[in-house]
Amino acid sequence: MTFLEEIKRRRTFAIISHPDAGKTTLTEKLLLFGGAIHVAGAVKSNKIKKTATSDFMEIEKQRGISVATSVMGFEYDGYKVNILDTPGHQDFAEDTFRTLTAVDSVIIVIDAAKGVETQTRKLMEVCRMRSTPVIVFVNKMDRPCNDPFDTLDEIEKELRIKVRPLSWPIGNGEQFKGVYNLYENNLYIFKANKQTIEEGVAFGDISDQKLDTLIGDSAAATLREELELANGVYPEFDVDSYLRAEVAPVFFGSALNNFGVRELLHCFLRIAPSPQPSQAEGRMVRPEEEKFSGFVFKIHANMDPNHRNRIAFVKVCSGHFERNKAYHHVQLNKELKFSSPTAFMADKKSIIDEAFPGDIIGIPDSGNFKISDSLSEGEHLVFKGLPSFSPELFRYIENDDPMKSKQLAKGIDQLMDEGVAQLFVNQFNNRKIIGTVGALQFEVIQYRLLHEYQASCRYEPISLYKACWIESDDEAELEEFKKRKVQYMAKDKQGRDVFLAESNYMLQMAQEGFKHIRFHFTSEF
Ligand code: G4P
Repeated sequence: MTFLEEIKRRRTFAIISHPDAGKTTLTEKLLLFGGAIHVAGAVKSNKIKKTATSDFMEIEKQRGISVATSVMGFEYDGYKVNILDTPGHQDFAEDTFRTLTAVDSVIIVIDAAKGVETQTRKLMEVCRMRSTPVIVFVNKMDRPCNDPFDTLDEIEKELRIKVRPLSWPIGNGEQFKGVYNLYENNLYIFKANKQTIEEGVAFGDISDQKLDTLIGDSAAATLREELELANGVYPEFDVDSYLRAEVAPVFFGSALNNFGVRELLHCFLRIAPSPQPSQAEGRMVRPEEEKFSGFVFKIHANMDPNHRNRIAFVKVCSGHFERNKAYHHVQLNKELKFSSPTAFMADKKSIIDEAFPGDIIGIPDSGNFKISDSLSEGEHLVFKGLPSFSPELFRYIENDDPMKSKQLAKGIDQLMDEGVAQLFVNQFNNRKIIGTVGALQFEVIQYRLLHEYQASCRYEPISLYKACWIESDDEAELEEFKKRKVQYMAKDKQGRDVFLAESNYMLQMAQEGFKHIRFHFTSEF
C-alpha cells in the first residue's frame, strides 16, 4: 500500500455524549462490528459514574482501565479506524477538549428520550470552534421517546447545526420496529438482541407490500408518509456540506440492541474525513508531507506508583513514523529515539514499527513530555489548538510536610504537565494556586501527590472569579497595570502574565480602566 493510500484509509474520530446517553455501549458495538472484540462487555468504559462524584478511589480504578481504552484501533473493510475515548465526567472536560484536537471527526450520541443535554451542547461548541464534522446518533429508540421530527428540530436548534436524517425510525419504545436506511435505501427490521451482531432484513422498495406484512399496515403507512415528508423537508444529503461542518447527518437506533449501528458505521466510513491538515504556528502541516511530525495531546500516568512512568499520546500529523529513528523534540530542542512506541488495538496494546498520519502512538516517557509538545524531523513546529482555558475553581496549595518540599514541587510540576490542572504563582506573595474546571481534580491531585510522590499537601481557600491571560501593544500601560494590580498578578507555568480577577465586577473595571490591554480566557490567542 502506498503512503497516500495509508492516509486515505484512516478514520480518526471521537464519540462524545452527555453521561449515560450510550457512548460506551456504542463504542463497544462498533468494536464488535469491527471484529476487534468478540463479546459485549469486553471493553470497560473510562467513565466515572455520576454517583461517584467525590470518590477518588473510583477514579484511580478508572484511570487504570482507561489507559487501555484511550485509543481503540481496528481494521474494518480496508479502513483503519481509530476511536479516541473521552471521559464522560464533566470535571474532566479539558481532557475531552484536548482529545478533540486529535480527531478529524466526531460522532455525537444523544439519548432519544432526554434529547440534547448540557454536556453535549458544550462539546458541540468545541466542534464548532474547530469546524469538526459531526454525525449524530439518536440512541435508545427502544425506549419511549419523542417524534423523530421533534427530535431533529431540537438537535438543529440546540446544537446550532443543520441536520439531515440518513436513517428513519419506525415507531419507538415497545412499538419500535426498525429503521429505514435513507443512505442506502433499504430497511432493517428491529430484532432485540443484546449479545452479537446479526444482519437485519434488507428491503429495496418502500412501496413493496411485503412491508405491510412485516411491520403492519398502520406502521407501513406512517413510514411512507414520514419518509415523503422528511425527503421534502430536508435537502438532499451533500457530503461536502457535512465535511465543511455545516450539516450533521443523523442516524437513529439502539446501541444496546445493536440496532442502527451497522448503518452508522458503513456510512461513517464512506463519508467521514481522512486525516486533515493541522495548524501549526506559521503554516499548515499537511498529512501527506514526507517528513514526520506530531504532537502530544494527552499524558497518562501509569498505575504503578513505584515507577513514575507515563505514556505520552502522540497524534501523527504528517509523514511516516518509524521506531528507533531519531526525532526532534521541539520544545526541549533535543533528539530522541523511541524504542517501544505502542499502538492500541481495542483492549490490547502492542509495540509498533511504524505509524501514519491519523494514528495515535503511545510513547513511554519518564518526564520528557508535556501536553502540546511536538516532534518533528528537525523543523521548529509548534502546533496550535491546545489552549488552556481559564479554570473555574481555585485553591492555594500548601506543603503539609516540610521534609518533602522537593517531592511536592516535582509532583505538582509533573501533574501540571499531564494537564490535570493549572498552576499559577502569585507574584506578590509567591503562593501557588491550583486552578481546575471541576472539584474532583483537587482530590485527584492530593491523592496522587501522596501515592505517587509521597508528598502531602493541603488546600486553602481563595476567592477568584477568573484567571485571564493579558497582553498589550502598549508596554507602558501593561507595566502600569501590573504595578497597580500587583496583588492579583500571577505567572502561569510557561511564565506568561495572568491577571487573577476576584469578581466579574473587578474584571470589568480593569477592562474599562485599561483600554489597550487584551484580557483572554484561553491561553492561546
Ligand atoms: P455513557 O458511556 O454515555 O455514559 O453511557 P453507557 O453506554 O454506559 O449507557 C448508559 C446506560 O444506558 C447503560 O445502562 C446502558 O446499558 C444503557 N443503554 C445504552 N444504549 C441503550 C439503548 O439503546 N437502549 C436502552 N434501553 N438502554 C441503553 P446502565 O443500567 O446505566 O448500565 P449497565 O449496568 O447496563 O451497564
